[in-house]
Amino acid sequence: MTILVAQTEHGAEVGKKKGSSNGGFAVPGNNAFGNSFRDYNAETERQKIVTELYRQSHINQTYDFVKKMREEYGKLNKVEMSIWECCELLNEVVDDSDPDLDEPQIEHLLQTAEAIRKDYPNDDWLHLTGLIHDLGKVLLLPSFGGLPQWAVVGDTFPLGCAFDESIVLHEQLKENPDNSNPAYNTKYGVYSEGCGLENVVTSWGHDDYMYLVAKENKTTLPSAALFIIRYHSFYPLHRGGAYTHLMNKEDRENLKWLKIFSKYDLYSKSKFRIDVEKVKPYYMSLIKKYFPAKLKW
Ligand SMILES: [Fe+2]
Ligand SMILES: [Fe+2]
Repeated sequence: MTILVAQTEHGAEVGKKKGSSNGGFAVPGNNAFGNSFRDYNAETERQKIVTELYRQSHINQTYDFVKKMREEYGKLNKVEMSIWECCELLNEVVDDSDPDLDEPQIEHLLQTAEAIRKDYPNDDWLHLTGLIHDLGKVLLLPSFGGLPQWAVVGDTFPLGCAFDESIVLHEQLKENPDNSNPAYNTKYGVYSEGCGLENVVTSWGHDDYMYLVAKENKTTLPSAALFIIRYHSFYPLHRGGAYTHLMNKEDRENLKWLKIFSKYDLYSKSKFRIDVEKVKPYYMSLIKKYFPAKLKW
């Protein structure tokens, strides 16, 4: 199968603006729709869908909701399958929250992984992280409970403490019940200085779910990979610089890798061609190195 994937420096540019260079990675000027990346104010039909998704997310993602979801999905009793089977399954999913991407997910997975591989050829764990980081989006499918888009995709943010202003469409959070709960609406809320992000409840979605799947199935990927998987949608952290008062030493180390990864996750979403069958054997070897043959989901 040949598919259309992201533009990096070796592809033909399709956006209207010329891309700029950012280290070894050529940053394209436009997303698949010809708009700037992560422009949540552009007046398009796509933006209306994105804004509505965040409105629902910001009302419904509460501390109690996330606790319940982690307990339910932490059982991992939905499906048994391999990582590659999940990559193929994800082709059935379209992410409404993403203003930049309007293509099957496997294309985004391979774009991200291949772009990283080109610039970091020796860090095979980071290539595999690129391939699997969005697999949690299977939560949208009926066999995984068919969760609504607002409970699967979109930027994530902490619950149990005050909402930071760097959260996308922050003003909508005024309607979140936790916002008027004195236990949850102060700077530290239920947490303490340097408590570590692993102890912080973060809005439920594909990030946290895939983190649980990888961890509980005893992946041998390094801690930086798990951190990337768990927090790649946590833009207030890796883009906004917020919530650093909750981080510990390990978080600060891992954040460096997340910032590298995030560049590839975002900017690999425009079009050039990749041959899935050609790259598949390489990724199968990585899956074998870091995961059991079948995983519980
Ligand atoms: Fe994602
Ligand atoms: Fe992604």
